[in-house]
Amino acid sequence: MKKVNIAIDGPAGAGKSTIAKAISKELGIIYLDTGAMYRAVALKAINEGIDTLDKSRLAQMVEAIDIKISCTENEQKIFLDGVEISQKIRTPAISIGASNVAVVPAVRMKMVELQRSIAAENSVVMDGRDIGTYVLPEADIKIFLTASVDERARRRYIEQIQKGITDITLEEVKRDIEYRDKNDSSRDFAPLRKAEDAIEIDTTSMALEEVVEKILLICKG
Ligand code: DC
Repeated sequence: MKKVNIAIDGPAGAGKSTIAKAISKELGIIYLDTGAMYRAVALKAINEGIDTLDKSRLAQMVEAIDIKISCTENEQKIFLDGVEISQKIRTPAISIGASNVAVVPAVRMKMVELQRSIAAENSVVMDGRDIGTYVLPEADIKIFLTASVDERARRRYIEQIQKGITDITLEEVKRDIEYRDKNDSSRDFAPLRKAEDAIEIDTTSMALEEVVEKILLICKG
């Protein structure tokens, strides 16, 4: 099979990771969640007492960061300095921290290098914010997923509750999403933006299966 790169971008809670995982499983190719990499950077900063808004210290910190990813169909494990952190990075504080560190060009350059090297060697479904516009501008297929902010907050809230995170309200989840939407789309370097040649799908009132089916049809051309 010819190597294929699929880019799935969009704001938090649009369904990217669930949908990208389903696509990767269906096509038998790997799935790479690039958000996890920015989350790993945020975790390291927090562990080291570095403010996630302190651009110069973050730029210095990523010079020596050790992030490794093992990805297969449907599953990804991420390691920071040799320790698996796949679950630890799924908290509201890390979500905000990841959005903050992702503004720093030196952080992005480092992550993008790793993302491009994985895509160069594998067929991959990659999800993120800037995959179609910056990381893989030559991707074979580009999808931009959206949904209303209320629906995205609702999905994220349910996800958190299911994970046992109960000390957060729906309003707080919505506020965090709005903060990240603004932060991710207004940064100067590789902001969240639909690529001109991306196909936009509004998932607000669509079932997951419908979205997956639609993307698979696009993939089959
Ligand atoms: O997809 P996610 O919610 O795990 O991403 C966490 C943050 O990381 C997101 O708010 C912005 C940043 N991010 C990014 O800037 N570029 C990407 N390709 C992926 C994530």
